[in-house]
Amino acid sequence: MARFTLPRDIYHGKGALEVLKTFEGKRAMICTGGGSMKRGGFLQKVEAYLKEAGMEVELFEGIESDPSVETVMKGAEVMQKFEPDWIVAIGGGSPIDAAKAMWIKYEYPETTFEDMCKVFGLPKLRTKAKFCAISSTSGTATEVTAFSIITNYEKGIKYPIADFEITPDVAIVDPELAHTMPKKLVAHTGMDAMTHAVEAYVSTANCDYTDPLAIHAIEMIMDNLVKSYNEDMEARDAMHNAQCLAGMAFSNALLGIVHSMAHKTGAVFADQGAHIIHGAANAMYLPKVVAFNAKDPVAKQRYGVIADYMHLGGANDDEKVDLLIKYLRKMNDDLNIPHSINHYGADGLPAEQGFVPEEVFLERLHDIAANALLDACTGSNPRQPSQEEMEKLLKCCYYDTEVDF
Ligand SMILES: [Fe+2]
Repeated sequence: MARFTLPRDIYHGKGALEVLKTFEGKRAMICTGGGSMKRGGFLQKVEAYLKEAGMEVELFEGIESDPSVETVMKGAEVMQKFEPDWIVAIGGGSPIDAAKAMWIKYEYPETTFEDMCKVFGLPKLRTKAKFCAISSTSGTATEVTAFSIITNYEKGIKYPIADFEITPDVAIVDPELAHTMPKKLVAHTGMDAMTHAVEAYVSTANCDYTDPLAIHAIEMIMDNLVKSYNEDMEARDAMHNAQCLAGMAFSNALLGIVHSMAHKTGAVFADQGAHIIHGAANAMYLPKVVAFNAKDPVAKQRYGVIADYMHLGGANDDEKVDLLIKYLRKMNDDLNIPHSINHYGADGLPAEQGFVPEEVFLERLHDIAANALLDACTGSNPRQPSQEEMEKLLKCCYYDTEVDF
């Protein structure tokens, strides 16, 4: 038996935010990030609509990008005092992910972070509050997924929380919010969405319900991401839907080792000067993982189907896989994303000398690979790597060398 779960309602299109006026409840807590939603006037609108619905409103602002366990615990404490029956999270992936984890802690105050990380092991939520997610970026699709990524900075590791219990009740996908995204964010979140769709399509948990969502998302991202990056706002509107479709696919079909590696390399070099931004990590690793997974005959055939839908040509699956890899690499070039960690510079831009020195990378390689193998996304990857293979793959991602194993 398999399960396919999505939010009960997805309101989409321009002006979708207004639906908040119709929500029923007593108290709503709005969780948000650093201020872009306020600058754009969207936070004020959310607050006004909820008040119009007759609710008392409390704000929890300042959720940082790559939210920490500490932020989650702090927010949950505020919730316990305010006792909301709606949690409304607005912003990029980070505030929504943090609010999902706060929600768990609010409903079950005795829960530890370790408890939350037990994959598909959460108790029943919605005994105290329902959850509405409003996304302002076009990538993580956390507004429709069963996932939340929280960083433990002590360990330098990002942990995915995964359970259909945290799939929001309502998602609002209003493209006007995505117009505020800076170009760099468009590039990174867009390639995150592409990775979601590709990984979901070849995942061992793919099914008839997830395949069409993944394929259509890939077609839309191919047609719109670079245009959106170059400030075509119609394309940007389309990307807001495309990333949501990709999210519906991967929330149910799960992901693969591109994400495992991105989770485990994201924060581990923070002491070297920067994070490897999630979407940029995915963009760099995806072509390498396609080459690695294509050694599995079923995955190879599925990559061939993706290439066909993308009209990339190719006489057989081997040629199609090569063309797919080339196309993905060209997207990185068009979006100003490097191909490998050794060229990953400030702001995620390509640099002659990246911020992760070779000796630091090699010193940490064993542990990163071991952690990536343990990541929740590894289980559904179509080819299971050994420790040695994962280390080799990570080296290819560092040096941009060919994956021939
Ligand atoms: Fe992702």
